[in-house]
Amino acid sequence: MKVNRVCCIGAGYVGGPTMSVIAHECPDILVHVVDDDKEKIKAWNSENLNDLPIYEPGLKKIIKKTRNKNLIFSTDTDKAILESQIIFLAVNTPTKTKGEGKGFAADLTNIENCAKRIARISKSNKIIVEKSTLPVRTAEKIKEVLNKYNSKINFEVISNPEFLAEGTAIEDLYKSDRVLIGGESSPSGKKAVEKLVSIYKRWIPARKILKTNVWSSELAKLASNAMLAQRISSINSLSALCEKTGASIKELSKAVGADKRIGPDFLGTSVGFGGSCFQKDILNLVYLCKVYGLNEVAEFWHQVVKINDYQKKRFTKRILKTFDNSVAGISISILGWAYKKNTNDSRESASIYVSTDLLEKGAILSIYDPMVKKERIKLDLKMILEKRGNDKKQVKKILNNVHIIKKLNDKLFKSKCILILTDWDEFKEINWDILLINDKKYPIVFDGRNFIRKKNTKKLYTIGE
Ligand code: NAD
Ligand code: UGA
Repeated sequence: MKVNRVCCIGAGYVGGPTMSVIAHECPDILVHVVDDDKEKIKAWNSENLNDLPIYEPGLKKIIKKTRNKNLIFSTDTDKAILESQIIFLAVNTPTKTKGEGKGFAADLTNIENCAKRIARISKSNKIIVEKSTLPVRTAEKIKEVLNKYNSKINFEVISNPEFLAEGTAIEDLYKSDRVLIGGESSPSGKKAVEKLVSIYKRWIPARKILKTNVWSSELAKLASNAMLAQRISSINSLSALCEKTGASIKELSKAVGADKRIGPDFLGTSVGFGGSCFQKDILNLVYLCKVYGLNEVAEFWHQVVKINDYQKKRFTKRILKTFDNSVAGISISILGWAYKKNTNDSRESASIYVSTDLLEKGAILSIYDPMVKKERIKLDLKMILEKRGNDKKQVKKILNNVHIIKKLNDKLFKSKCILILTDWDEFKEINWDILLINDKKYPIVFDGRNFIRKKNTKKLYTIGE
């Protein structure tokens, strides 16, 4: 039977853009995106497209064309399950905060809840697609849950991990390097894979659709993220050595990346990678290796996260050193809250950690980001301050030293110190010479994105230079 109805559980950074593109490319398929979060669904349905819950270049245009035609956003998960032939799971799979594997393993509660709900509601055969990033062999567990709660119908579970990066999600979905589909080799497994292929092949060339077994597909996603993050930690670790030796990290990246076998991408030094996935997925990989008794392998990958933490701390230490280890009462401007440019996502952003370290030492922060909302920034800080054991009174007191600035204005440049923490293009366009090449003692600029060209001034610190 031809696929004409699909749904996706989870309307986040993956579910929203991927389903919009499917709806756009397959006008004959009704795509229903559901989420338990009422506010999020309301935002997906908002008339003003600037109020969509996520910012992603190119997304508004696609939503405008498809929404309420063959793309529906709702909270009616049961209806979506009941009516769909294919169900994509794009729920969040954060690091566990309690129980076995705490701090490392992926929390699969959302996935398990989806499986139970699908089993309970379904009245016809279903294909379940793992879009969320999951530990290897999760498909087996999903199938177990499905069969336990509903033994009457056939469920096929296939893995189809998502490789989009935020900020370029739409472009990535259209020009995917590969679409990976892992399925079982049984006749019904193969049929399920072909049904998914029939969707992607509308816009992805067949040679880019890779078919593997389920476990390879699940593990390839973790491995891809781990290897990307590993490159950043490699270059960041070398940035520390550059600073000691007089080598330049920019020159080093260029020279190393010119080797075809290495390649130039993901060799950009920074204050540390952020985002909801790199750290989470590597910690999950570390956990899996330990479960299988591969302690040396686990330690190898753990080091990628450790170097990332080291890089963030190293950056803060450099600021503190400049102010003789005392930033109490010092005004500091933070340029950028998102973990990278062209997204409103701040999950695990280096800005959160650098800012909190400085706030706990009494600094007064003015924070500006073109896309992250004021409430989000305050919430990020509140959550981490509480996690670090500050009581309510302390949190309130510290947050009094935070000023969120709506526009890139003069106030930000009057601070004693400016930190560039996100690679937003508008920060590149600032005339840094005016601020740096003069007789004034301040502001001192700490460039966490290696944006500003080297200058003959002690007022500029650039990572790895
Ligand atoms: P997200 O937090 O933005 O969205 C997940 C959504 O799922 C949330 O809105 C949440 O309310 C909803 N949800 C959770 N449980 C639910 C349930 N039982 N019923 C209905 N809704 C439920 O997460 P995300 O960034 O979209 O990531 C989703 C998954 O995709 C993760 O596993 C992540 O590792 C992976 N991934 C993310 C990216 C990315 O760029 N963000 C890229 C590739 C893969
Ligand atoms: C990353 C991967 O690139 C995607 O393929 C994957 O699908 C996704 O994770 C996921 O699974 O969630 P994303 O985190 O959105 O995508 O963004 P990246 O472009 O990978 O950047 C991640 C972090 O690394 C950012 O903080 C970025 O600024 C930093 N980075 C990136 C560097 O510090 N240096 C670089 O050279 C590149």
